[in-house]
Amino acid sequence: MQDLFTAASEARQRAYCPYSHFAVGAALLTEDGEIITGCNAENASYPLGLCAERAAVFRAVSEGHRRFRAIAIAGAPEGEAPVQPCPPCGACLQVLAEFCGDAFEIRLADRSYTLRELLPVRFGLTEDAR
Ligand code: THU
Repeated sequence: MQDLFTAASEARQRAYCPYSHFAVGAALLTEDGEIITGCNAENASYPLGLCAERAAVFRAVSEGHRRFRAIAIAGAPEGEAPVQPCPPCGACLQVLAEFCGDAFEIRLADRSYTLRELLPVRFGLTEDAR
């Protein structure tokens, strides 16, 4: 199976980031072993841009996947190698928490974290969902 961080780095090459010049790729591993990727896509109306992680999650959901094991994230200024860790933003963590359990793995350039480590407390409509 392809390495998840390599898949994220390849997806990063498709990032559309003419405003920030910061390119991000994400690769999501589904429960059944498929890899679904995403990249950030910006817009001239800046707030409309989407992060790579959420692009990957929403694409996966659109393709029928709702359970995931891990995500790898490769991010760096355009033209540089993604060798430094690029943690997901808070909005992406909240979206991941919708579909992923506490042990879901977030793989960065240097090491892995669990979702619960990076988002110990999250919004949920019921106490159980927090
Ligand atoms: N970005 C991501 O793709 N993922 C994150 O978790 C944080 C930031 C993108 C959004 C924007 O296109 C660029 O990085 C700079 O903020």
